[in-house]
Amino acid sequence: MDFFDAVMRRRSIRRFTDEAVPDAVVDKALDAAVWAPNSSNVQTWNFYWVKDPGKMVDMATACLNQSAARTARHLVAVTANPGLWQRSLPLLQEWTHKANAPRPVRVYYEKLIPVTYRWGWFNVMGLVKWIGFNLTGLFRPSPRGPNFRRDLDEVAMKSAALAAENFVLAIAAQDYDTCMMEGFDEVRVRRVLGIGCRERVVMVIAVGKAATPGTWGPPFRIPRDMVVHVV
Ligand SMILES: Cc1cc2nc3c(=O)[nH]c(=O)nc-3n(C[C@H](O)[C@H](O)[C@H](O)COP(=O)(O)O)c2cc1C
Repeated sequence: MDFFDAVMRRRSIRRFTDEAVPDAVVDKALDAAVWAPNSSNVQTWNFYWVKDPGKMVDMATACLNQSAARTARHLVAVTANPGLWQRSLPLLQEWTHKANAPRPVRVYYEKLIPVTYRWGWFNVMGLVKWIGFNLTGLFRPSPRGPNFRRDLDEVAMKSAALAAENFVLAIAAQDYDTCMMEGFDEVRVRRVLGIGCRERVVMVIAVGKAATPGTWGPPFRIPRDMVVHVV
């Protein structure tokens, strides 16, 4: 399927049929998800494909019993945790060495990332970074962050959201349907997944084949010129 066809085909489907979605379809979409662009390529995300039937039911309940979750054939949760930079770093350093990356790239992964991704005890390091960046910013363009734990959560969540988008488009390209959901009880979703509170649940994605009707009506966007600005 052409890229633009997949983009236009994708809708948030609230009711799925009983038709099975082959695992291979989800697998392929997960491949697309992990190829998403992400901040500094540190890949601070996880994807939980819920396969256990009991957990599927618990997840649907944690997703506030939304019909998309209840009727889904698969549920995939996309999570973000900026602390996962430590998992990626040795692999990224190995990659830059093997690829004979230019010195600035190697310095970036050896020296800069460990500073950028730390916020310190009670955000103390974040405060030091905040002061440093803003003082520098008085005299020349300076990054203004990320500084605090909250900023790094935001960075990781942006990347995870891009992965979620890759995932749903890849499902649409294979002629199946999805619904992204942020309407869930995060504490309960974490409990079902068996993950800690450091990991933010960015999206739970329901996958299936759209029922007729699968949505209440036609798609809608506000006029393009209200949101696209040429400056
Ligand atoms: C971050 C985010 C959270 C969403 N959460 C829910 C949700 O909890 N339940 C739901 O039915 N749809 C959810 N949606 C789907 C949106 O309602 C939907 O994308 C929007 O209405 C546009 O419709 P379309 O996706 O069919 O184009 C979510 C979408 C996004 C991007």
